[in-house]
Amino acid sequence: MHLECTGCHTTYSADQLHTTCPVCGKVLYARYDLNEARRHMDRNVIAKRKPSMWRYFEVLPVRDEAHVVSLGEGATPMARAHRLEQALDARELYLKDEGVNPTGSFKARGLSAAVSKAKELGQNRLVLPSAGNAAGALASYCARAGMEAHVFMPKDAPEANKIECQAAAAYLTLVDGFISDAGAMAKERAKELGLFDVSTLREPYRAEGKKTMGYEIAQDLDWKLPEAIIYPTGGGTGIVGMWKAFEEMEAMGWIGSERPRMIVVQAEGCAPIVRAYEQGADHAEPWENPTTAAAGIRVPAAIGDYLILQAVRESGGTAVTVSEDEIFQAVRQMATLEGVFPAPEGAATLAGYAKLRASGNLAPETSVVLMNTGSGFKYLELLG
Ligand SMILES: Cc1ncc(COP(=O)(O)O)c(C=O)c1O
Repeated sequence: MHLECTGCHTTYSADQLHTTCPVCGKVLYARYDLNEARRHMDRNVIAKRKPSMWRYFEVLPVRDEAHVVSLGEGATPMARAHRLEQALDARELYLKDEGVNPTGSFKARGLSAAVSKAKELGQNRLVLPSAGNAAGALASYCARAGMEAHVFMPKDAPEANKIECQAAAAYLTLVDGFISDAGAMAKERAKELGLFDVSTLREPYRAEGKKTMGYEIAQDLDWKLPEAIIYPTGGGTGIVGMWKAFEEMEAMGWIGSERPRMIVVQAEGCAPIVRAYEQGADHAEPWENPTTAAAGIRVPAAIGDYLILQAVRESGGTAVTVSEDEIFQAVRQMATLEGVFPAPEGAATLAGYAKLRASGNLAPETSVVLMNTGSGFKYLELLG
C-alpha cells in the first residue's frame, strides 16, 4: 500500500523512490493490505507454490511479477540438528541453512527484493556498501537483470566476495577502512553518478526479502514458531525483518500472538548492540575499532539499531557476545556434527547457544533455531 516511517509514522507512496524518512530520518517499512493479501494467499496456497521466497508474493513489495529478479533464493532447508542436540544436551535444535542460497548467503533474499523493486521503479544503476556478501549478491542480481552494480567493500573483505563481484562485472571499490567508511563513499558516489543507494534499511525493500526467513521458519514448523531464534547481527536487517514477518502473519491469522525470543549474537570485538542492550539504551553507540574475522558482523553502527533492540526486548530475548576462538570451534562443530559448513557468522549462533545454555539463560528443552546465514565456502582463506 505505502511506506510508513518506523519513527514518526508518516506515510509515503510505494511507487516512488524513498530511502529513510525525510521528516525524522528513521527507517521506512513497506505496509501491505493484509486483508487483501489473505484473500489471495493462505497457508495451503503457499504450500503448493514453487519453493522460493517469492511464494509469499502478496506480502512482497513488487506489484508486477514480470519485475521479479530471481536466482532461486529462499526455501532453504531447516533441519533438526540431532547430533548437536546429543552433544549439547538439547531437546529441540534446528539449523536453518541460508548458505545454500544463490551467491552463498541470505543476502540473496534482500537483494532479490531490492533489485526487483528498483527495476519496477525504473532504476538500473545501483550502489551499496557491503561487508562482502551483499556486494556479491548485488553484483549477481544486477547481472541477472542487466543492471549496473557499484559496490564498496572494506579491503579486508573475504576474497570470494571480491572475486564474485569482479566476475559479474560490478564496479568494485576496495576501501581502506570499515563498512561505515564504505557507506560514506557509496553515498558520495550515488550523488555524483545518480545511482540508487540500496544500503540496507536506508532502502526499504532489502528487509522485505529477509523477512521471508520468518515466514519460512513458521511454515517449516507447521505454522508454529520456535521458542528462540539466534541471529548473527550486523546491520540487523534479518532480525527486524523476521520480527515484522511475525506481526504480518498474526494479522493474517496464520499464527497466534506467541513470539520466539529474538537473540542477538555479536563478536567480542564488535558488539554495539549487545552493549546497548546491557546498558538498557534505545540506540547503540558506534563501536570503535571493530575486529572480528566474521566480516558480516563487523558492523560498528546499525541504522536500525532501535528496531533490533525493540525486537529483542519485546520478545524477551537477549544479546550475547562470543570470542573468535568460540566462533572457529563452532564452525568445526557444525561441520563435524551436522555436515553444514557454515560461515563464521552462522557458526557464531552455535557458540552463542552454548554460552546461553552455560549461563542458564536458555534451558535444554527450549526449541531454538540457529541461523546459519552463509556458506563456509566463501571464507576459505579463513577456514582452511
Ligand atoms: C554471512 C552473514 N551473516 C550475517 C550478516 C549480518 O546481517 P544483518 O545485516 O542482517 O545483521 C552478514 C552481513 O553481511 C553476513 O554476510
